[in-house]
Amino acid sequence: MKMNELKLVYFSPTGTTRRVMMETARNIDLKSVSFDFSVYKEKKPVLKFAPNDFAIFAIPVYGGRVPALFAEYLTAVTGDSTPAALIATYGCREYEDALLELKDIVTGNGFQVIGAAAFPTEHSLVPMIGSRRPNKADLKVISEFGIELKRRIRKSDSFDQFDIRVPGNTPYRKYMQNSLFPKADVSLCTECKACAKSCPAGAISLKSPKKTDHQKCIGCLRCVRFCRQNARSVSSIKMRMLERKLMKICQSDKKADIFL
Ligand SMILES: Cc1cc2nc3c(=O)[nH]c(=O)nc-3n(C[C@H](O)[C@H](O)[C@H](O)COP(=O)(O)O)c2cc1C
Repeated sequence: MKMNELKLVYFSPTGTTRRVMMETARNIDLKSVSFDFSVYKEKKPVLKFAPNDFAIFAIPVYGGRVPALFAEYLTAVTGDSTPAALIATYGCREYEDALLELKDIVTGNGFQVIGAAAFPTEHSLVPMIGSRRPNKADLKVISEFGIELKRRIRKSDSFDQFDIRVPGNTPYRKYMQNSLFPKADVSLCTECKACAKSCPAGAISLKSPKKTDHQKCIGCLRCVRFCRQNARSVSSIKMRMLERKLMKICQSDKKADIFL
């Protein structure tokens, strides 16, 4: 089949998932178009992909699941037997039901999954876990995944012969409750609004960026990264408790799982 475009549909509040996805995409010789759902959208964009497009869906794992916000956006992204690959990045704990949930969503929306992978990375909440991953060795594995996807796309005229099985259980794990709410230090905040503009959940008011709506905040810490004044942070007590807990259960040297 003569392929049209590579559609990159992703959620990446702190940039690691995007990096992994781009490394995969670099190895697929198709013109690419990005749909970045890490930026808050009041209205869900409606996307319809053609049978000769190739889609990559990439997510960070949140509590062993697809981030709920992204799952919501995906309801308006449909294919027409469009081939798709799935990428989940996770902070060296576990990815549990995330790949299965992502597969169920996209399959239900008209995509045909031809490959999937879970890549362990630096933990966005506790960066000393999996520190600086993806590293050189990880990038090699990620590239090879991309090369195999390219091969599949080139060789196949239709994609229904692929039956990609990924681990996970239904019903999926319960959504975790967010307890990390970054606060603005009013003495440092200059109200530049970088945090409000970058928040994926629309949880920071553009009018009063010192305020965070705790009902909407997903605890991704994107605002902390985007704040140039270092005015946004999470309570150090909560952070230390989380570090202690995660250091016990994460393994920084986890290997990638590839499903082809
Ligand atoms: C709210 C939240 C929940 C997370 N839950 C998990 C998890 O269940 N398992 C895991 O191993 N990593 C978990 N992580 C770590 C991220 O999945 C990982 O660091 C990912 O690569 C971040 O991607 P990003 O930089 O594209 O945002 C979590 C991170 C956040 C912010």
